[in-house]
Amino acid sequence: MNNYSEKFEKMRIAGKLASDTLDMLTTNIKEGVSTDYIDKLGYEFIRDNGGYSAPLYYRGFQKSLCTSLNHVVCHGIPSKEKILQEGDAVNVDVTAIVNEYYGDTSRMFCIGKTPIKLINLIDATYEAMMRAIRILKPGKKLGDIGYEIQSHVEEKGFSVVRDFCGHGISNTFHESPNILHYGNKNTGMELKAGMTFTIEPMINAGKFDVKVLNDGWTAVTKDKSLSAQFEHTVGITENGYEIFTESAKGYSKPPY
Ligand code: MF3
Ligand code: CO
Ligand code: CO
Repeated sequence: MNNYSEKFEKMRIAGKLASDTLDMLTTNIKEGVSTDYIDKLGYEFIRDNGGYSAPLYYRGFQKSLCTSLNHVVCHGIPSKEKILQEGDAVNVDVTAIVNEYYGDTSRMFCIGKTPIKLINLIDATYEAMMRAIRILKPGKKLGDIGYEIQSHVEEKGFSVVRDFCGHGISNTFHESPNILHYGNKNTGMELKAGMTFTIEPMINAGKFDVKVLNDGWTAVTKDKSLSAQFEHTVGITENGYEIFTESAKGYSKPPY
């Protein structure tokens, strides 16, 4: 026992509901389906399994999850008009609240046959997140996380979005510290056992600049290049880390 075991137990439960939601959605994310339908399925699944969707009414957001297609970087708003088509790639980002604690996770989904350039971007984004997770332990610093992500994707000619970052998370949705997805080794705050936060790199095929559309939410790449993202909620343990949002079905990245 330690002073964060109760917190971690709650994070495990919330994290599991968020990742179970993505598992459930996986077979439903296909050609011809609207992103609003995905939102509806996610809303119902979370509600029926004892939780709440954190995005719903969060700062005026009107949907239960985010669906970010192709050149949308993050915070895409589900819509009846947005129908998934062959060749699309969509990030679905789910945040569930259970007993006041939050689990936040996202994955990419490919619709039908995916261009190789997009597969490469998705693979690099997933690998960058996992590289950053694998180094986590007390004594590592926030800059080490950013370094792992930035060095991996820039070597492939991709860029790290600067305008959005990961975040502390526990019994509030977004708390300190900010988790930047770029940075230098051995800089920034030191990791301590008991910390819980997200790692959620947004990686662009082109330049890292983004702009937010008039709806106040949808963030897109300025150069209209493709963008990919994955997100896990993690906790720092005495000698490493725990991922709270790992898929029970073993889903990591496409193909599922
Ligand atoms: N789930 C997002 C994150 O990773 C936040 C979404 S806020 C919303 O932090 F309002 F856009 F849903
Ligand atoms: Co997050
Ligand atoms: Co999220």
